[in-house]
Amino acid sequence: MVLNDTILATVEKQGFCFMDNNVLELDIRELRHWFTDYFALHNNKSKYQDVAIVDMEKLEENKLVTKVLDKVVTFTNLSQANGFYLDKLWLVHSLPRKQTSNSLPYIPHFDKHRYIKVMIYLDEVTLSDGPFNSLSFAPIKNEKKRLNLSKNYKAKGENSVPNINMDDFIPCVGPSGSIVIFDTNCPHFAGSVSGDGQRRVLRFDFDNPMFPTSNQNIGYRLWSSLRQSIQRNKKSGSETYIDE
Ligand SMILES: [Fe+2]
Repeated sequence: MVLNDTILATVEKQGFCFMDNNVLELDIRELRHWFTDYFALHNNKSKYQDVAIVDMEKLEENKLVTKVLDKVVTFTNLSQANGFYLDKLWLVHSLPRKQTSNSLPYIPHFDKHRYIKVMIYLDEVTLSDGPFNSLSFAPIKNEKKRLNLSKNYKAKGENSVPNINMDDFIPCVGPSGSIVIFDTNCPHFAGSVSGDGQRRVLRFDFDNPMFPTSNQNIGYRLWSSLRQSIQRNKKSGSETYIDE
């Protein structure tokens, strides 16, 4: 069990944190109902068959989701004060697929765009439900490699990490409500769903303008951060796969 105030420090040191219990005390039944309705309405608007994307412009209208987001931010310290802002929120419903499991995102890799991602399981996730798998690895060690990825890095396999024993990866299996917090610089992969397995996940992607980028889009990211800040204040006032 990781104490709340050490989550970011743990992620910085070992790449990820996993809590295999409903540590945020979420109403999972309520979230599942919302997930089912929202997914049915919005899945066809996404280019990914397993994903429904939450419209960030309308996020504040959704009280259920903003409540979960507030709990996530409070629990993890992925706050604006620490430079983080929510860039994306996806509903991911993974089912058994015919996709080959020897390609991304099912093989160990790190991501080109660096995020701290938070995944909340809405179902119990066993080994047959496609658990998230991660290595214990300090994310900073991959930073130079990430920044040097070429334009065709996927085709060239530059972001895959083939020389690590698969037994060294930790499958994050646990009951509904379990939460994963990870830095995408840390080698990771998605488990394949098999048999009657399924996995419903809420995935929050937190960006930080202080993460260096190779394409110098820091202005856009600062603006995104500022725009979200304005939205929050108002309240009180081409990929072909789903990356993980
Ligand atoms: Fe990934």
